Amino acid sequence: MSSSVKVVVTGAAGQIAYSLIPRLVDGRTFGNKKVDLTLVEIPQVVDKLKGLVMELEDSYFPNMGEVNYTDNFKEASKDGDWFLLVGSIPRGIVYNGKKIEERSDLLSINGGIFVDQGKAIGEHGKDDAKILVVGNPANTNAFIGKNAANKDSQLWMAMTMLDSNRAKSVISKKTNTNISEITNMIIWGNHSPTMYPDSENVLINGETGSSLINDMSWIESEFIPSVQQRGKAVIDARGASSATSAAKAAIDTVVACENPTPSGGCFSAAIASDGSYGVPEGLICGYPLMTLADGTVEIKRDITLSDFAKSKFQISIDELLEEKEAVKHLMK
Ligand code: NAD
Ligand code: LMR
Repeated sequence: MSSSVKVVVTGAAGQIAYSLIPRLVDGRTFGNKKVDLTLVEIPQVVDKLKGLVMELEDSYFPNMGEVNYTDNFKEASKDGDWFLLVGSIPRGIVYNGKKIEERSDLLSINGGIFVDQGKAIGEHGKDDAKILVVGNPANTNAFIGKNAANKDSQLWMAMTMLDSNRAKSVISKKTNTNISEITNMIIWGNHSPTMYPDSENVLINGETGSSLINDMSWIESEFIPSVQQRGKAVIDARGASSATSAAKAAIDTVVACENPTPSGGCFSAAIASDGSYGVPEGLICGYPLMTLADGTVEIKRDITLSDFAKSKFQISIDELLEEKEAVKHLMK
């Protein structure tokens, strides 16, 4: 085995984690590396993780290293290479007597979690740690966490890969193309109903969506809203938010960061803006990203946005600015 990686997962007794955690140690996500897991839960349910650890042991994963579980995030974060921050409250449940319908309802409930976790990651995580926030509202939670961590060498991301995968699925049906032929599916902005899934720059068998999909009415009235509202559609149908597809998307994000991106390619996640594409600096914004040969993750900066795309993207940027304002009390 070449080397090892320590992965910290929060919300480890939740439904996403149940699909996610086995895939971290199955020998594909991190290749030949030994994977040490630290699973984190709140004190009320942390003991349940004993059962998950038993199942992991029973599953025979040759690449699985040490597995620990705890309710102490600070201890868990020591020397972490990867942090998958899933732990938070989802939409669709009743919390303190109120049904949680919108992501904005989650801002006040979940935002606070990321102050302490961010601080611990900044102090105890590896200097080059990668952090993927899955818990909603993912972009603003990552914004809060990154601010609290205050360590620029660490990479904070919020997950938009699920939106990208959903958009690929819709385009694959529309163009009658196998999903494996659809690449560069960019999600601009927030992981929320304002996100802009980019049907112009997506590549279908190497050709741009703008050259292949000449159906603006379908793009505006079907493609964009269906991707934006897919999370809600799953909640309405399942009575619980997406879990196995969210876990797969988290794995896809890790794999995209662990391996160099093919030339001309990109993948979707939200990271801190450096001003690229006119986004105010610091906002955690959905971008096209590339992983370079040395493992650095960068924004792909050569994408052209039409006026239509810019106007849609701006709506999401404005929403991120509003969310930033709403959590300013959590900033240092
Ligand atoms: P879940 O309720 O099944 O599990 C969440 C778990 O997090 C629970 O076990 C809870 O005890 C735990 N938790 C809460 N606070 C914690 C803390 N401070 N530290 C550690 N653990 C904590 O929910 P789920 O379906 O697994 O969803 C988790 C989150 O992921 C939700 O916020 C959901 O909205 C979000 N989500 C995001 C995406 C995305 O694409 N970004 C997709 C699907 C779901
Ligand atoms: C999703 O997109 O499925 C998740 O963010 C869950 C939600 O609340 O929509």
